[in-house]
Amino acid sequence: MTEKTYPHLLPAVQALAEAPDEARIRRIQTDRWLGYARAEAALSALEDLLSFPKRTRMPNRLLVGPSNNGKTMIVEKFRRSHLPGSEESARDGAIRVPVLKVQMPPAPDERRFFSAILEALGAPDRLNDRLSTKQDTAVRMMRATGVRMLVIDEVHNMLCGSRDQQRRFLNLLRWLGNELQIPLVAVGTAEGLRAIQSDDQLANRFTPFGLPPWEGGAEFTRLLNTLEASMPLREASNLSSSPMAQRLLSTSEGILGEVVTIVTRAAVAAIETGQERIVLDMLDSLGFIAPSERRHAVV
Ligand SMILES: Nc1ncnc2c1ncn2[C@@H]1O[C@H](COP(=O)(O)OP(=O)(O)OP(=O)(O)O)[C@@H](O)[C@H]1O
Ligand SMILES: [Mg+2]
Repeated sequence: MTEKTYPHLLPAVQALAEAPDEARIRRIQTDRWLGYARAEAALSALEDLLSFPKRTRMPNRLLVGPSNNGKTMIVEKFRRSHLPGSEESARDGAIRVPVLKVQMPPAPDERRFFSAILEALGAPDRLNDRLSTKQDTAVRMMRATGVRMLVIDEVHNMLCGSRDQQRRFLNLLRWLGNELQIPLVAVGTAEGLRAIQSDDQLANRFTPFGLPPWEGGAEFTRLLNTLEASMPLREASNLSSSPMAQRLLSTSEGILGEVVTIVTRAAVAAIETGQERIVLDMLDSLGFIAPSERRHAVV
């Protein structure tokens, strides 16, 4: 009896190819990290920023790109590679949090921003405390835990406030970076970029790093090959072959999260129907709608 091999799969995934359907479907539906050149470049830019020597005017970065295009995945990956405690413990035994990540509250509300910081540090947060008290506690805690970088995701939420609120918030960010002498990393859509650029002094301290929508080409081919190799289907789908790749690019409008969703659903269908590979027809029958059309479809 010859044993079947699965050269289209990553070595670690080959072992799963013979697993029962449910196990394979579960694997396909589990989020996994796919490396791609732009993400690796973003991670190394963040690494550079983290090792930047302390000085009064620290450089900052703005990770900017359309929604669902992998921004949060990158900063999460970065945070996970610098987990609390992975650095030498402080002499006083305090836990170290090298990379602190918070979400911008749904509006530029300073109290809620500091609450988010306290919560991320696992510190008690008294709801009724005044802004100045919260601010002092948050800054003290950030020092005590050795925070070396503050990542603020969903920074475009800043635009939900009045011009005045926005200006106050941007001032606060500038103050915080100076006070702690740590780099800030803002993450958001083009609107976030616009908000930050509305402040001249901040604009030239936040260097944008773009994660634009995908275009076809060698890098997209590599992405599709990686994606295919990570999903335990028993037959090769050749996702990067020309009509299929073209179709995935147009239906997703170049948005990474869409590509992953489409391929995930098609891979599950491939197992359920016993076809064991993704074919073009499947993409038709699953009825995917491009993200821009979907926005118009919801009333
Ligand atoms: N590097 C990656 N590896 C695997 N899957 C990814 C990767 N990046 C993005 N994805 C997929 O795309 C989805 C969206 O990514 P993410 O949440 O990072 O987008 P975002 O740019 O932060 O969007 P938003 O602006 O709406 O918050 C993820 O849930 C995941 O399925
Ligand atoms: Mg996000």
